[in-house]
Formats: sequence, C-alpha cells, structure tokens
Amino acid sequence: MEITLKAPLDMHLHLRDGDMLRLTAPLSAAHFAGAVVMPNLVPPVKDLASLSSYAERVQIATDGVTKNHEFACYMTLFFRAYSATELETVRAQRNFFGIKLYPAGITTNSAEGLVDWTAAEPTLKCMEELGIPLLVHGESHGFVMDRESEFLPIYRRLAESYPKLSICMEHITTAGAVKLLGEYENLCATITLHHLLLTLDDVIGGSMHPHLFCKPIAKRAEDRDALLEAALRGNPRVMFGSDSAPHPRHAKECCGCAAGVFTAPIALPCLATLFARHGALDHLQEFVSGNACRRYGLTPPAREVVLRDEPMCVPASYRGYGQTVVPMYAGEEIPWRVVKNW
Ligand code: NCD
Ligand code: ZN
Repeated sequence: MEITLKAPLDMHLHLRDGDMLRLTAPLSAAHFAGAVVMPNLVPPVKDLASLSSYAERVQIATDGVTKNHEFACYMTLFFRAYSATELETVRAQRNFFGIKLYPAGITTNSAEGLVDWTAAEPTLKCMEELGIPLLVHGESHGFVMDRESEFLPIYRRLAESYPKLSICMEHITTAGAVKLLGEYENLCATITLHHLLLTLDDVIGGSMHPHLFCKPIAKRAEDRDALLEAALRGNPRVMFGSDSAPHPRHAKECCGCAAGVFTAPIALPCLATLFARHGALDHLQEFVSGNACRRYGLTPPAREVVLRDEPMCVPASYRGYGQTVVPMYAGEEIPWRVVKNW
C-alpha cells in the first residue's frame, strides 16, 4: 500500500540553534514542506531582529535538503508585552506566523514566560485586531497529570474575551481539551505523534523511558483515545504538530532528564502506520496539512511525500556536528517508510 501526501506540515517544531539546528533541521526538511518553528531558544526569540536572524539560520540549515524544494519556516515570537508598533512591524515580516505563550517556568526554556495575565491583555487585544495567531502551552503549575485540565478555564476565558483571536491549544493531551475545542470557533489545536500513541504507562509504568518523557506528560488511555478519534475521524480543528524536541543524548539519559521527545524523522511513517491500522488513511492528508492550510490560509511549497508499508529500522541515534540525539523508537522496526520526497 502507498499514500502520497501533499505538502505535509509540522505545526509545532523545535529546531534549536547552532549545531543542533544543523543536525535536526534537515531531518524535518526531508519529509515536510514546512513547519511552525518554536521560539524557546536561550535567550528566547522575542524581538524582530532575533526572529529574522533565526529564520535565516533555519533557512540555511534546510537549504538544499531536497532539490528544488523550499522548506517553509513559519516563525514564532515568544510572548511578552509587545507594543502595537512592534506587532504591526513583525506582522509584515516574511516568515512570521504567530506568538507562542508559555506560562513562566512551565517547560524547557520558558523561564521568561508569562507571570501576569492582566499585563498581557493589551498585547492580546492588539493581536486580535491585527489577526496575529496566539499559540499557547496550556498547562498550570499544579499536579502533573492535572496541569492541562486546570488550564482549560484559561483557554475558555481567552476564547470568550478575544472572540476574533485565533488561539491554538498546543500539543493537547486530554479528552477535556478535545471537548473544549468544539465549544469555540476561535480555538484549534495541535496534536503530537507521541500523544496519539502513548499513555503514562509507556513513560513510567514499566521501566522509566527518558526518551518518551515530555511536557505535557502523556495521560490516560481514555485521553489518548479522544485525541486519536479527533485525528482519525478528520476533526477539522486539529492539526499535526510533532513537538519534536531534540535534546542531546546526555541531557536525556541522566538524572534530571530534559523534557522532549524527538520524533521528526519518524513522524510521517508512524502517522501512516497509525492511520492505516485504523482504516483512516483518507483523513491523513487533512491532519498533516489540509486543516492547517485552511485554518491559517497557508500556501506551503508544492511538495509530495510518498509513504509505503515497507518496514524501516529507526536509527539508534542521529549524529552530526558533535551532537547525538536519540529518536523515539530508536533501534526498532516501524512498518512504514518514506519512499519518495520531491
Ligand atoms: C519542549 C522543548 O524541549 O523545547 N519540551 C517538551 O517536553 N515538549 C518544550 C515544550 O513544547 O513544552
Ligand atoms: Zn513544544
């Protein structure tokens, strides 16, 4: 069996900078027509100059990966209080996509995130007026399994207070989040590959698996099943966002393991496997591109990626530029592979 995907997009991707960027960006560019690039560098991307120079570095790292094909970098700014002039200027910037809001300290490199919601109001209002999408890491600082559920009232408040603001609930992990999506037109969501596959049992139920540890943490089977249903049944409000988050091997295989699952090079084969297993391959195109293009009016570079149900062995690690990163399913065989990407 084969499936051809047109312009697959990764709507939530961490590419880092420097050597890690050089190692990981080509792996995404090999399979995807474009990606929404997260701003949680150290220091974060929070002004126009750093957005432009980061976009350039991403472009250089992905140039020439596939002949004649551009990789569209949809760049994001890290949320802070921005003036109307700053927002107008950045909106006019080629490559600019939206603003990512992290509650302070909620995840990797988010120390400079939001502390005071009241102080955020003028910026949110202005983003609404200018049509700038807001992307949100929606977790509270509560008990780890309840963090997303505790954040849902904040999504609700945002959706009601700024009815014209496009709000993306990033990497949702709960049945409650899927349900909330249906209540407000201005909400959409990204879903990762790993949250479609895993529950907390896979992470810590047997031996502890650092390469499956991420934020938000994988939840219960009924949560995973609600996400699966939304993706497989073609819910138009959900989009694929891998949240592929590379950390050097030594930062994962240690005490105090960093949060993040590296999935970029296996994402499309694993999605094809999953959708095929559920007889839902006809909804994969919408999930990996169509829904996002419609929602945001994107016109990604024309690009076709062909997948076939032929097994591939996932490398034990990806190495280069002095970096080593371990992917999800390292060393295992997965049933589908990419056979053409042009
Ligand atoms: C991400 C990272 O490493 O940057 N980590 C993660 O566990 N997902 C940040 C994030 O998206 O939360
Ligand atoms: Zn992320």
